[in-house]
Amino acid sequence: MTTVAVVYHSGYGHTEVLAEQVAEGVRASGAEARLLKIENAAQDFGPLLDQVSSSDAVVFGAPTYMGDVSAAFRAFTEASSRVFATGGWGDKLAAGFTNSHSFSGDKTHALTSLAIFAAQHGMNWVNLGVPAPSVTAAERGPETLNRVGAFLGLAAQSDNASTEITPPTGDRRTAWLLGERVAKAAQRWSAGQSAEPLAQAA
Ligand SMILES: Cc1cc2nc3c(=O)[nH]c(=O)nc-3n(C[C@H](O)[C@H](O)[C@H](O)COP(=O)(O)O)c2cc1C
Repeated sequence: MTTVAVVYHSGYGHTEVLAEQVAEGVRASGAEARLLKIENAAQDFGPLLDQVSSSDAVVFGAPTYMGDVSAAFRAFTEASSRVFATGGWGDKLAAGFTNSHSFSGDKTHALTSLAIFAAQHGMNWVNLGVPAPSVTAAERGPETLNRVGAFLGLAAQSDNASTEITPPTGDRRTAWLLGERVAKAAQRWSAGQSAEPLAQAA
């Protein structure tokens, strides 16, 4: 079965809500989802790195803190240099999501960090694939998909309130769609890899 790892950090739980939705979208597509939480910057990242290594695709998620991914997530990226040295994640599919308080909040910078991180490992980036809203900003309700209109990955917005009510339903649904998109892409990618020897033989 195709396996998608969802590696995320969440200091206060809002990004975690999205990680769970990404995993749900993966499972609904018939793939296995591995929900892997980064607890803190000082943890032993070895087991987590191994879980990623044995997955077909990875969705990286981090809150935007001070205009970039959180320090705990950055610690994970630096720990992954161990795998970088062997090219162990090369050619896997990767995607990303972030979440912050402001509509912009410089979330694009955090998504860019995730995409560059994937590129350094030789991974293939899968973008969000959910169109930006065509309605006016005033018409964007909590149920609007891709509410802030990002393309590189999911950029969600959470208020300073309970995770029971924020991020809103539209952002949660967009996270689910990202999980579905990555799982389906990974299934196609795996099928293509197994088909390659047949094409060469013919
Ligand atoms: C240290 C710190 C830095 C933050 N920096 C930003 C920021 O640059 N832009 C922004 O919009 N929100 C910023 N926020 C707000 C968080 O992104 C927001 O509360 C988010 O929902 C937290 O996600 P989490 O609950 O998964 O930790 C910051 C919060 C903290 C604690």
